[in-house]
Amino acid sequence: MRTKIWTMEEGLSGAVEALRQKETVAFPTETVYGLGADATSEEAVSKIFKAKGRPADNPLIVHIGERSQLSTVATSWSETAEKCMDAFWPGPLTVIVPSNHEAAPNVTSNLDTIGVRMPDHPVALELLSKAGVPIAAPSANSSGKPSPTTAEHVYEDLNGKITGIVDGGPTGVGVESTVVDCTSEVPVILRPGGITKEDLERVFDEVQVDPALEGTGERPKSPGMKYRHYAPDVPLWLVEGEDERFVTVLKYYKEEGKKIGVIASRELAAKLDHQPVAECGSRNNMAEVAVELYNALRSFSETDTELILCETFGEEGMGTAVMNRLRKAADHIFV
Ligand code: TXA
Ligand code: MG
Repeated sequence: MRTKIWTMEEGLSGAVEALRQKETVAFPTETVYGLGADATSEEAVSKIFKAKGRPADNPLIVHIGERSQLSTVATSWSETAEKCMDAFWPGPLTVIVPSNHEAAPNVTSNLDTIGVRMPDHPVALELLSKAGVPIAAPSANSSGKPSPTTAEHVYEDLNGKITGIVDGGPTGVGVESTVVDCTSEVPVILRPGGITKEDLERVFDEVQVDPALEGTGERPKSPGMKYRHYAPDVPLWLVEGEDERFVTVLKYYKEEGKKIGVIASRELAAKLDHQPVAECGSRNNMAEVAVELYNALRSFSETDTELILCETFGEEGMGTAVMNRLRKAADHIFV
């Protein structure tokens, strides 16, 4: 199969037709590129799992273009879900609500709940409205790799395995949506993402975080969170502590003769006498770091880099999602 790339000039008719034919189409959202297929068709959804090499027990998020479409996949939902949608849709927040089992069973991995979101991206919204059915879409990367923030990233991973890619340019947020369990009164963050805990706390008196995210060793409530993710092709080590410590660790491995790549904020990069460095924005603006993160993780593929050293960041605001992804991507953490 040759993977088609549709430019914005070509419009969305080819992509819409492919979705109708139960084929897979990658498209931009405000977070990362998604790999979409008709959520009501088991056959279409199975192509997503096959192309990504995704474990069957990891459910997919269903994307809708209008709020009224929620009732196609869920019969009733809580006040909590309603408040999340009012405050954050369209946007990078996925609500987990009771499923009405109208979506194909492989979308939810046979769970009684379903994840739904309305993305805040004009191309995604137009595609969803023209497709007319809810679209299941995980991030459009090979399973285990960093999520794609450009059409080129999707092509690198999935060329020949999917029908087409709608190229809408780089995505804006850079990390995936926040997955929020809305099945009870207090919302529970199952995966940190583009809507921060602080954002949710402006809407709810109490917001809980799945204890598994805080390293207690419990089984995560979001099936996908138990897998290794976001891993670059080169081993990734995180270095905690002051910048001086990073400088020392870098010097040590350079002296051992290792070819090192660095991922660093602008502030740390300014203190390093080293190449190559993938700079990822200012550590004082974690939203900027989120935008650059996955591109930085991919940037050492097909180079002679043997080891990536990456700094760690404060875990407030978007820093929570960034550090969640980095910990999952890392082979080793210097504490
Ligand atoms: O920003 C995003 O959310 C992107 C774009 C494409 O929309 N999508 C995305 O999908 O990140 P994916 O498949 O890479 O991640 C979906 C996450 C997984 O951790 C999965 O386990 C969780 O959502 N999830 C899906 N349905 C669930 C459910 N019913 N209960 C708990 N977790 C669920
Ligand atoms: Mg993913």
